[in-house]
Amino acid sequence: MITSNVAELLSSDKFLQEVEIKGWVRTFRANRFIALNDGSTINNIQCVVDFENTSEDILKKITTGAAVSIKGTLIESQGKGQTVEIKVAELEILGESNPDEYPIQPKKHSFEFLRENAHLRVRTNTFSAVMRVRSALSFAVHKYFTENGFYNFHAPIITGSDAEGAGEMFQVSTLGLDNVPKDEDGNVDYKKDFFGKETNLTVSGQLEAETYAMALGKVYTFGPTFRAENSNTTRHLSEFWMIEPEVAFNNLDDNMDLAEDFIKSVITYVLQHCKDDIAFLDNRLTQEEKTKPANQRSEMTLLERLNFVAENNFKRVSYTEAIDILRNCKPNKKKKFQFPINEWGADLQSEHERFLVEKHFKCPVILFDYPANIKAFYMRLNDDGKTVRAMDVLFPGIGEIVGGSQREERLDVLKQKISDLNIDEKELWWYIDTRKFGTAEHSGFGLGFERLVQFSTGMGNIRDVIPYPRTPQNAEF
Ligand code: 4AD
Ligand code: MG
Repeated sequence: MITSNVAELLSSDKFLQEVEIKGWVRTFRANRFIALNDGSTINNIQCVVDFENTSEDILKKITTGAAVSIKGTLIESQGKGQTVEIKVAELEILGESNPDEYPIQPKKHSFEFLRENAHLRVRTNTFSAVMRVRSALSFAVHKYFTENGFYNFHAPIITGSDAEGAGEMFQVSTLGLDNVPKDEDGNVDYKKDFFGKETNLTVSGQLEAETYAMALGKVYTFGPTFRAENSNTTRHLSEFWMIEPEVAFNNLDDNMDLAEDFIKSVITYVLQHCKDDIAFLDNRLTQEEKTKPANQRSEMTLLERLNFVAENNFKRVSYTEAIDILRNCKPNKKKKFQFPINEWGADLQSEHERFLVEKHFKCPVILFDYPANIKAFYMRLNDDGKTVRAMDVLFPGIGEIVGGSQREERLDVLKQKISDLNIDEKELWWYIDTRKFGTAEHSGFGLGFERLVQFSTGMGNIRDVIPYPRTPQNAEF
């Protein structure tokens, strides 16, 4: 008897062998044909029940969602579209699933409905494929950095610093409302709620990663990060996972090389190891595209997009060049953007980023050397005194997927910047120490993991590529 999973059995040629398998019923047709899935592959294995010799009571319980254990013989399939099937000898119902109550029926459910059933949606083809690809990408991230001499560094989740200086932090409370410190008037002092100190959930592990890069050379963090921005878009979450490498002695060009090589490597991994899931998601996206007006359809299929990114160089363009392009272009029939770019120094909106990537260059773009005043305090000032060594990687259909920079390693320039932005130097004493003791050029970036999963799976909404999305509207489950 071979105890196996569906993926192995479907590619097996061990015909006439006795096999045992456990999984969940996807469908049961004609009182005979079970489509069984166990999560190991997008594909189901057909199990043929000898209904004449199976009790009515058991047959009734073979319903969508039920967990079953099957023993039988692996045979060559008579049906179309599959090579093997199991001739069932013994069937045990492990866990029933009442068809009148089970929300996941063998039909197409809307993603909105499935979001409300986030605990069950991974039992559908689309979500199981997305979550397998997500898992493969996560593995590919660790594989890439490990093979390239990086150490995995665990940044703290609870921290006293605001790495981005954008004030989008969730405060941490330990004391409970009754015990929170109060001021003289009896008002709650929320700010001192972590055992009497002010702390928040991390928005980025970068500052701590920098301190580690200045000893271990090449490090990366890959952990949850939190942003209390009230953005209700298809690309923002309140809780998302970020991958942040940081490398001592790297300049901005090295940083761009690293970002490009890393992204290509993880996408190539998924192309090689998730073929069935990507084929399924490719087909899903093609069907979805057909429902859109012709002029809004994507020119490439999912598979074409992934191969394109894996094989083609990203275009590197300075902010100043990009602004020139955006000022002189005709983005659409109305020939203007919703937010026209009038002057150098303006921050780019997603419509501008998508124009550059999707219409103008038609490939991933790395924009660099942004105006200092629209970027964070830690980025290295260029000799022109007005731009910083920042870089954003922009992707088709996604917009910004990576934000990074060469860091300001000069103590005096960093201190000046901190003071110009009215940041309290005392809060960053430990960060400033790295510039006092053995400072050196260094660079890093942050890649939003969910945006990478979105790109790799062709899913339109970021809420559909993380198991339990946290957004301003939703923190259930
Ligand atoms: O551009 P950001 O804010 O950069 C940083 O946090 C740097 N400290 C990273 C570094 O240099 N180590 O964020 C980096 C990336 C973005 O490019 C985007 O992909 C993702 O994180 N991101 C989000 N993803 C989902 N939901 C949100 N609310 C996100 N905010 C940023
Ligand atoms: Mg950014």
